[in-house]
Amino acid sequence: MCGIVGYIGEQQAYPILIKGLHRLEYRGYDSAGVSLISDGGDLNVYKSKGKVSALEEECKNQDLSGTIGIAHTRWATHGEPNQVNAHPHYSESKSLALVHNGIIENYKSLRTQLEGYGMTFCSETDTEVLVQLIEYMMKDHNCDLFTGVQIALNYVVGAYAIAILEKEHPDQLVCARKGSPLVIGVSKRENGSTEYFLGSDATPIIEYTNQVVYLQDGEIAIMDRSGRLDIVDLKNSPQTPKLATLQLNLDQIEKGGFPHFMLKEIWEQPNALRTCIRGRVNPANKDVVLSGVLDHKDRFLNCRRIIICACGTSWHSALIGKYFIEEACQIPVEVEYASEFRYRNPVIFSDDVVIAVSQSGETADTLAAIELAKEKGAFLYGICNVIGSSIPRATDSGTYLHVGPEIGVASTKAFTGQVITLCILGLAIAKVRQTLSDEMYHMLVDELYKIPDKMQWTLENNKDIDKFAERFTYCKNFLYLGRGYNYPVALEGALKLKEISYIHAEGYPAAEMKHGPIALVDAEMPVVVIAPKRGMYEKIVSNIQEIKSRGGKIISVVTEGDTTVRGMSDYCFTIPDTRDCFVPMLAVIPLQLLSYYVAVTKGCNVDQPRNLAKSVTVE
Ligand code: M6R
Repeated sequence: MCGIVGYIGEQQAYPILIKGLHRLEYRGYDSAGVSLISDGGDLNVYKSKGKVSALEEECKNQDLSGTIGIAHTRWATHGEPNQVNAHPHYSESKSLALVHNGIIENYKSLRTQLEGYGMTFCSETDTEVLVQLIEYMMKDHNCDLFTGVQIALNYVVGAYAIAILEKEHPDQLVCARKGSPLVIGVSKRENGSTEYFLGSDATPIIEYTNQVVYLQDGEIAIMDRSGRLDIVDLKNSPQTPKLATLQLNLDQIEKGGFPHFMLKEIWEQPNALRTCIRGRVNPANKDVVLSGVLDHKDRFLNCRRIIICACGTSWHSALIGKYFIEEACQIPVEVEYASEFRYRNPVIFSDDVVIAVSQSGETADTLAAIELAKEKGAFLYGICNVIGSSIPRATDSGTYLHVGPEIGVASTKAFTGQVITLCILGLAIAKVRQTLSDEMYHMLVDELYKIPDKMQWTLENNKDIDKFAERFTYCKNFLYLGRGYNYPVALEGALKLKEISYIHAEGYPAAEMKHGPIALVDAEMPVVVIAPKRGMYEKIVSNIQEIKSRGGKIISVVTEGDTTVRGMSDYCFTIPDTRDCFVPMLAVIPLQLLSYYVAVTKGCNVDQPRNLAKSVTVE
């Protein structure tokens, strides 16, 4: 979704802002813009439709001087993606320029009121309403920008992260947030001066400083060149800025020799999962320790039910988590699309545990779902990747994935990180509730510990996917089939293909084929079947036969040494043997690679697929 960058200090702001926008490109956007207070005192705004490179083109031959500025990548919500609707937006007098992430829900009524006071608007956006409202309040209350922002935001319903420049005050930058993240980077220069960086996440900041302040919901901050950083809440109560150290380094947000972030992140999975399980899974005594569970033992011991809320890929990993937790802990687990859950008045008991699974920790629907669960008194547990994001801050306890930043829009290492974390969580709860025999518990822990090595094997032994992916480039449809733990893998494989190659794909439980989808199968239809030599192997062999006898092309994922399914398949990927419950973490790898190479061969923008945003911070 939209991205914000800001800078105030002694350096020229434009190069910092443009570099920051490039760092935020992964979030997904359709236009971009920048505003600077020039050395001559002008408040300039430059913007363009399309990529940041188009903005750079637009900026050529313009006055790009200035040591203070804000910049934005916009993912359109209100008003089409064009130059006029792109941010920053001027206020009517052109004294203010503002960038905004989020949605102002009451923007129509605010706009009507402001128009009633004679104000005119250039764009269709909710953002322009915000900057006009701030200017109006400043005039009406005869106050400065910092106060005007506080007053204006008390009239606003919705979510926002904003940054504002004021032409008359080139020495100060004001920002605020509610429901949309904003990070302030703080850096002391060698000459003793302080400079501040703003980012809607830490990626535009990390190369300058690792010292940050995460602005909290309802806070407004003012930074100036003298080193002042003051924060107040919407009621004007002063808040103490809390400095945190970023756990991020530059290498993690660069491609490191890979052509795309997605491919880098696919290959990172073995190491990412090693980091994820470190300190939590002890191979020596075959035990797991999860402080998030141990610190709240009673809630897990006495819980009536677990509800997992998530969206997209995170919903798929949640489904695998459900199967595992029900099997290991004998607790009923429901998996909910957060977007449905939040609006359907669900039954939530105060002795329920509600788990939010989210890579970004910022998905608006997932956040709203847990807020609803909080109102009903449930215990909230977050499984997120981005440290310090909104969901971990809104939950009672939780576990970070620690798989490193995921930049590719198509989630890969976060998916496998979520699956292994949910398995560790299941084992930790099983230990508390004593629902597994010691023998089974130790055997599962032991096998789980081997998964990163088995992922490495899977990557090394499926390197030729690039060679045959091109044969599928022109397919219009794909089917993905799996049973049990591999049904969610079929859903995930289909989602990966859809989102980056724009080929229609559906994931199905294999046995459901007969109830309708088999009508689609013909010689044009590739059918990807996850068929490990485990659990329901014989059943899936029958499903493959049904497809073959209707002419379908079989692409299978089989266990090393399998000959039966291999013999029935047109193309075959191999994974090492593991327990049923852990197969998804291996079986998904060839499917990630298949979608990656099909998309690359088609010439698609793999890391920034059309219409998609990395984290969906609006509903
Ligand atoms: O950050 P989250 O895990 O909450 O995001 C949820 C979905 O938006 C996300 O998984 C999306 O489906 C990915 N693009 C899938 O690759």
